[in-house]
Amino acid sequence: MNDKSHWNKIAPTYNDEIFDVYANDRNKRLPYYIKKYSDQTKTVLDVGCGNGKSFQHLAPQFRQVIGIDISQGLLSQARARGFSNVTLKQADVTRKQLRLPTVDVAFCCNVIMFADLRKNHQSFQNVNRALKKGGTALFVLPSLDSALFSSWRLIELYRREGVRPAEIPAHEFHYFKGTKRDLIQGIVYIDGVPTKHYSGSELRVILPEAGFTITTLTRIEYEWDTELASAPGWLKAPYPWDWLVVCTKN
Ligand SMILES: C[S@@+](CC[C@H](N)C(=O)[O-])C[C@H]1O[C@@H](n2cnc3c(N)ncnc32)[C@H](O)[C@@H]1O
Repeated sequence: MNDKSHWNKIAPTYNDEIFDVYANDRNKRLPYYIKKYSDQTKTVLDVGCGNGKSFQHLAPQFRQVIGIDISQGLLSQARARGFSNVTLKQADVTRKQLRLPTVDVAFCCNVIMFADLRKNHQSFQNVNRALKKGGTALFVLPSLDSALFSSWRLIELYRREGVRPAEIPAHEFHYFKGTKRDLIQGIVYIDGVPTKHYSGSELRVILPEAGFTITTLTRIEYEWDTELASAPGWLKAPYPWDWLVVCTKN
């Protein structure tokens, strides 16, 4: 799929279609971590900034915010937010040898999740190259462990109603419609779109390979109704999650 036309097509209905991390983050971990690494003297790069949802958190806490995105449609919406210390530029984070401004902090929320796995590696490297030595990157990334755990939960819920795993309607597992090799490599379908999901162990391998040292690998947790259509009220922790990874550039 051509990322650019895909995201330009989504742009007009972006807020209805795309999962809002800030609105669903149960423990408000994302604003907490942004604050923890913010500094009024520093510049932050918002990689795949979309329509600028993060600016309300980034702009007041950094000297300058540079937002990049592949979609002009989304960049126009981001521009309309009117933050005076935000500059925007169209760029493809997967491009080889992409030249980005040098920054103190990089922030990248649910962007590096390409089904073409080479693009993910290239993107992590590009973010790494944009950082000053010792700079910090905050990545929000889909969790393979969470996707598998949510489906395990679903099977358990059916079991309680007397439905055996083999009898569960196939559409309940539409997330896992790729091959075995796809699944092992973390390709899970979200709204029909193959989306790279990461295991925690995998991140501990691939981020150092891209030049990072992981300092924090934690979870942004969501309510169960973000994953299951009719989640019972008693269903509590562990909740479904995205990874939040904080790294420094080596
Ligand atoms: C799920 S949205 C997340 C947007 C934003 N970070 C947020 O959390 O609201 C993914 C974003 O990545 C952008 N994107 C997709 N492919 C890209 C690429 N190759 N280079 C730069 N941005 C890309 C999309 O246009 C979209 O804005």
